[in-house]
Amino acid sequence: MNNWFEVDKEGLARLLERRGKHFAVLELLQNAWDQSVTQVNERLEPIDGRPRAWLQVEDDDPAGFKDLSHAFTLFADSNKKADPGKRGRFNLGEKLVLAICNQATITTTKGTIHFEDSERRASRSRRERGSLFEGIIRVTRAEVVEALSVVKMLAPPRAVQTTVNGEILVHHEPLTSFSETLPTEIAGRDGTLRPTQRKTEVKLYEKRDGEESHLFELGIPIVELDAGEPWHLDVQQKVPLTLDRSNVTPSFLRKLRIGLLNQAYSLLDQTTAKADWIQQASAEKDCSNEAITALLDLKYGPKRVVFDVSDSEANNRAAAEGHVVIYGGSLSSGQWEDVRKAGAACPAGQLFPTARPEFSPDGESCFVPISDWTPAMRVLAGYLKRVGEALIEKQLQVDFFARASGPNKSFGASYSPGRLTLNVASAGAGRYQDFNDADVEEVDALLIHELAHDWAANHLSDDYHHALCLLAARLKKLALENPEIFRIR
Ligand SMILES: Nc1ncnc2c1ncn2[C@@H]1O[C@H](COP(=O)(O)OP(=O)(O)O)[C@@H](O)[C@H]1O
Ligand SMILES: [Mg+2]
Repeated sequence: MNNWFEVDKEGLARLLERRGKHFAVLELLQNAWDQSVTQVNERLEPIDGRPRAWLQVEDDDPAGFKDLSHAFTLFADSNKKADPGKRGRFNLGEKLVLAICNQATITTTKGTIHFEDSERRASRSRRERGSLFEGIIRVTRAEVVEALSVVKMLAPPRAVQTTVNGEILVHHEPLTSFSETLPTEIAGRDGTLRPTQRKTEVKLYEKRDGEESHLFELGIPIVELDAGEPWHLDVQQKVPLTLDRSNVTPSFLRKLRIGLLNQAYSLLDQTTAKADWIQQASAEKDCSNEAITALLDLKYGPKRVVFDVSDSEANNRAAAEGHVVIYGGSLSSGQWEDVRKAGAACPAGQLFPTARPEFSPDGESCFVPISDWTPAMRVLAGYLKRVGEALIEKQLQVDFFARASGPNKSFGASYSPGRLTLNVASAGAGRYQDFNDADVEEVDALLIHELAHDWAANHLSDDYHHALCLLAARLKKLALENPEIFRIR
C-alpha cells in the first residue's frame, strides 16, 4: 500500500465532534445493519466520575468483516458503494468513531484488532460468527443522554432485532409510503461514486413527543428537516451526503418535497398546509394538479374565485355569493402557474360575468341602430345625454341595447365610463320606445343610479353611496339654475 499519508487522530475526531457525538452510536449500528444480520446489540454506559462511556456493538453476521484492514483504513474501496440499499460508502465512519475512543477492540471472524496507547495491534483470536466492537469513548454524561434519545428515533429494519442497553428498538410502522425518483449516488465498475436518479420508496413516520422532523437514510436519521415538514421521511436508498454525512443538497430536498406534496397532500390539514416546504413545493412546475387543488381547498375552501381585474363587479358579486376572492399577492408566481394549469380556481368574471351589452355571445353588435330608434327613443336619449352630461361634467354617449344574453339579461341599463346603454329587452322596456312625461321620475332614478358608477362599480361601496348623494345634490342645483334642460319636448 502507498504510504504517502498519515492521519491526525485528533483532527479526525473533530470531524465527528462537529456532527455531535451521538453520531458514533449511529455509525456502528449502521455498519451492522449493512451486513446480513438478524440481531444487533448495542450498549452505551457512562463510566462513573469521568467524561467517558463504554460503547459496545455486537452483531451476528455470519461472514463478519470481509477485510479486517478496513477497520483502520480510511477511504479503502467500500464494497457498499455500488449498492444503493446500503448506507456506507466512504469507508470512513468506523474510523471517526475510533478517533474519539481512548481504546477499542474489534473482534470478528477474521481476527482481532486492538487500538490502545497510540498503538494498533492484531491478535489471532477470532469469532465463529459476527463482529464485536468494544471501546471507551470520550463523551460527557449529557452527550450519552443525547445519544440515547437520538437512538429512540431510529427505524430499525423489520428483519433485524436491535437492542440498545437491553431494550428492543421498536419497529416504526410507517403512516404511509410512496415511491419517487430521487437523486442518489452509486459507484460504477471503476469504483467512482456518481450522482444518478433512481426510483425508491419513501416512508413517512409520525413524530413522537419532543422529536423534530428528520430526514432518514434507510432507517437512520441524518439531518433535521427545517421547513415545517410534519413527519420523519425515511428514504430507502443512499441519500447524497457530504463526506461527514452532515448535509444533503438543496436539489435533493426540492425533489423530495415535491414528491411528498404530490403523494401525501391528503394527509395535510389547514395548519400543516401553511408550512414553508409546501410554499416551496407548490410553486414547482412538477406539483400535481390534484395537489394544488387540494391545497386551495384547504386554504380557501371549495367556493373560491380569482380576483378579476377585467371585471371588478364580478369580484363583488362572487364575494356576496359567499366565495373567497383570492388576490394576486396571496400566491407566488409559481403557484399561480400551477393553479392555472390545474384549473384549481377561475377568475370571478367566469363564474359571475357582468353583462356586457355591446356584444352577443356570437360577437355581433347588439345595439339598436340609430335608424331604428322610435321618436320616443330619440327624445329619451336626448334627455339622458343633456342631463347626464351636466351632472357628470363630461361627454356621455347614450345607446340602446336590443338583445340581451347571459345570466343578467334582464338588466335595465349598464354604464361604462362615458357610455350609458339602456336595455330595450329588459322587463317593461316598452316604456323606452313609448317614453313620455309620466316616466320621467323613473328615468331620473335610473340615470342617477347608472351615473354613480362613474365613481364606483360596487353598489355597496362608500364611494358609490357618496356619488349617489352628490348626484342628487347636483340634480337639484341644475334644476334651479337651468330648468330648461329638463324640458322633454
Ligand atoms: N459490523 C460489521 N460487520 C462486518 N463488516 C463491517 C462491520 N463494521 C464495519 N465493517 C466493514 O468495515 C468497513 C469500514 O466501515 P466504515 O468505516 O464505517 O465505512 P463504510 O460503512 O462507509 O463502508 C465497512 O465497509 C465494512 O466492510
Ligand atoms: Mg459505515
